[in-house]
Amino acid sequence: MGNDLNSLVPITMDDIVPNVNLPGDVFFKLSEDNFVVIGREGTREQFRELHFFDKIKNSNVYIKKPDLRKFSSLKVLSASEVMKNDKASVETKVTTLSQTLNTVFTCIDQLGFNNEALGNSKFIANSILKIINDTPKLTTLMSIMNSISEDLVRHSMAVSMVSALISQSKGWNNPSILEKMALGAILHDIGLKEYPKEFLAKPRVEYTAEDSEYYQKHAFRGIEILRTVENVPQEVMAIVYEHHENSIGQGYPRALRDVRLHPFSKVVALADTFCELVFKDAQNPTVRSPEEALSFIEHTLGQPFNKECFVALKNVLTFGIRKVSIKIV
Ligand SMILES: [Fe+2]
Ligand SMILES: [Fe+2]
Repeated sequence: MGNDLNSLVPITMDDIVPNVNLPGDVFFKLSEDNFVVIGREGTREQFRELHFFDKIKNSNVYIKKPDLRKFSSLKVLSASEVMKNDKASVETKVTTLSQTLNTVFTCIDQLGFNNEALGNSKFIANSILKIINDTPKLTTLMSIMNSISEDLVRHSMAVSMVSALISQSKGWNNPSILEKMALGAILHDIGLKEYPKEFLAKPRVEYTAEDSEYYQKHAFRGIEILRTVENVPQEVMAIVYEHHENSIGQGYPRALRDVRLHPFSKVVALADTFCELVFKDAQNPTVRSPEEALSFIEHTLGQPFNKECFVALKNVLTFGIRKVSIKIV
């Protein structure tokens, strides 16, 4: 076939923008080492007309690894059109954004973190700020978020939303602060991207001492990944490194107390735990309501997080979402 099969990487149909010319060849795997081209670069995708469309719809197709950048740029471009469209529903926007973040994460996985990945992550962060600003109710947002199937994508988007809401509730409405907060939260668990799926699916209560030690390394691994790009904001690095710390010095990796923590990390640490409690995933089969989650943090965990952040989150749930103006660039 003339193509280096080792350079083929799996993507899903969600990574491919429909009704536009393909930015690279698309392959279907017939068997081990046997791939067939099902879409040529520069032509309109016509996958729906393939007699085995049902097979590819829910499984992987393949593209050449260097083409990933082109596929992700196109995905971001088309998502930005959806985000600017006032007629698009919140559901459509959240779904589009979750697929786009998945593509961006795949790119980071395959090609490493680079300026393009940083730019795309900033786009996701700003789109999240726009969504929370346009959506009056947190409960509405949460039920939409529950439909996202990829655990890490849903978790990253949810933590980003809740962190931005806590931030606004504290009166931190400066667009640059909000962007860094939302961006740090989008990337906070980036260190987990390299972890085997089977390991992440294992319930944390069953972790051995080695498992815990290995899991806890994701905070440091996260900043190692981000360090490869020069202009990642300091605030974002702090969030990624300190998102498992808490104010009473019982977190990791450094067991820092409140005064030593970056102000942004205090927000994201609380949002992270809150989202783990309210969204269902492999680690949390029982979903709590926001009120139950707050009560769990307060009474069962002994409210180990920064007090002002906790009050700010309570206020979001009691008084709703504040409006600030967010521009999508
Ligand atoms: Fe984490
Ligand atoms: Fe997390």
